[in-house]
Amino acid sequence: MAETARRGACVFGLTWGDEGKGKIVDLLCPAFDVVVRFNGGANAGHTVRVGSESFALHLLPTGVLRPGHTGVIGPGVVVDPIQLIEEIDGLAKRGIDVSGRLLISDRAHLVLPYHKLEDQLSEQAASGSTRIGTTARGIGPCYADKMKRSNAVRFIDLVGDSDLADHVRQIVAARKGMLTALYGSDGDLDAEAVLQDIAVAKDRLAAYVCDTTSYLHGVIHSGKAILFEGANGMLLDVDHGTYPFVTSSSTGPHGLAAGAGVPLTQVTRLIGTTKAYTTRVGSGPFVTELKDARGDRIREAGHEYGTTTGRPRRCGWFDSVACRYTARISGVTDIALMHLDTLSGFDEVGICVAYRLDGERISAPPASAAQLERVEPVIELVPGWQEDLRAIRRFEDLPATARDFVQRIESLVRAPVSIAGVGPDRAQTLVRGPIQDLINVTENQAV
Ligand code: GDP
Ligand code: IMO
Ligand code: MG
Repeated sequence: MAETARRGACVFGLTWGDEGKGKIVDLLCPAFDVVVRFNGGANAGHTVRVGSESFALHLLPTGVLRPGHTGVIGPGVVVDPIQLIEEIDGLAKRGIDVSGRLLISDRAHLVLPYHKLEDQLSEQAASGSTRIGTTARGIGPCYADKMKRSNAVRFIDLVGDSDLADHVRQIVAARKGMLTALYGSDGDLDAEAVLQDIAVAKDRLAAYVCDTTSYLHGVIHSGKAILFEGANGMLLDVDHGTYPFVTSSSTGPHGLAAGAGVPLTQVTRLIGTTKAYTTRVGSGPFVTELKDARGDRIREAGHEYGTTTGRPRRCGWFDSVACRYTARISGVTDIALMHLDTLSGFDEVGICVAYRLDGERISAPPASAAQLERVEPVIELVPGWQEDLRAIRRFEDLPATARDFVQRIESLVRAPVSIAGVGPDRAQTLVRGPIQDLINVTENQAV
């Protein structure tokens, strides 16, 4: 196998999530032995189409869909144990058994019912402009507890011999008081019900819990290759995204060192996914949003409804300013440009080439969400393509206007488009350049 394959690779989103990470991770799997989730939790929804079947994974690393592959949930992931058990059981019903090939870090934190309750109550209490539009999966409150430390519950607590019952009763009592004071309701939170969930989690998940950090270093030592599966997207990154309308973790390759315990020197290919247009679920600034028939058309053609919450996704043109920003921060080596097929039939396709803030041209997104709301996109309209792209299998067979569109994006973002998507199936993928060592689309057609 080529040198690139022996080292690690990371797939991550360059925008606000749902860029097709699941599809790309699945395609890369055959070149890797282990797939690792390092950030986020059940806010993620990664879809993989295999023939007529479709899988949506929230917590399980996408690699578990491939027989013989090991999936690792790293220390940086926040895990809702009941959701994870449902996912494991859901796959088992469809003939996919993860026993012996799923590992959960003993350092990972548990998302418990009070995290989800707090997420819902705080969103309900927020006024329109301050509501984040979270997935209500308890992500923010769980990461907050992790940082605060005193109220956290980790998998090591679940499998170790510390007295978790007393600790949880104290946490729940304090949380009830806090929720009542802030939101006027404690949602009938019951410590015994939380302990019941914890007992189920211990019974069903203890066998998977281990020191995944040592495991991954053993994998590296034995010369095997690791694929890191980012969740969410870099414009949702807690440090670099459109704060405060972000998620609570580090969503790019910079998150994998902390969230998996593997140094960045182990990762040579950084594959950033984006669509040929932009989508966003939830609130927050969206410079290129199309609030007209063109946005509706993209939504319907691309089936842009959330994998996790079913919410309609907001749609707009490709934003090269935002993508250049996240490409720089991440050091992306390859862009995977998905959903080229979805834009078929537009006479003209828009690309945002610059931002204007209060009349001034700016070249990067400002830190302030209020300023970003005021930014006007400078849109370049390029000729579209009428052809149905779904049967195309090589970059050179794309219509000239689609090839020009891809080239324009490469020059604006300043990174190569090595992968393009022309449909949801494994085979509907065009690949070029060195990454061909890692993705064999023809071989995948037979899988
Ligand atoms: P993720 O969260 O980044 O893994 O993305 P999601 O799974 O939430 O959303 C991507 C959606 O687009 C899924 O339904 C995929 O099956 C689908 N998809 C991925 N690539 C393409 C593509 O190139 N064309 C089309 N039409 N659909 C795609
Ligand atoms: P994948 O991995 C799209 C968004 C939510 C909300 C904000 C904060 O499928 O690409 P949170 O529940 O994390 O506190 O919500 O982040 N969000 C996502 N949007 N895809 C995702 O994941 C997302 N994960 C979080 O909609 O705006
Ligand atoms: Mg998704």
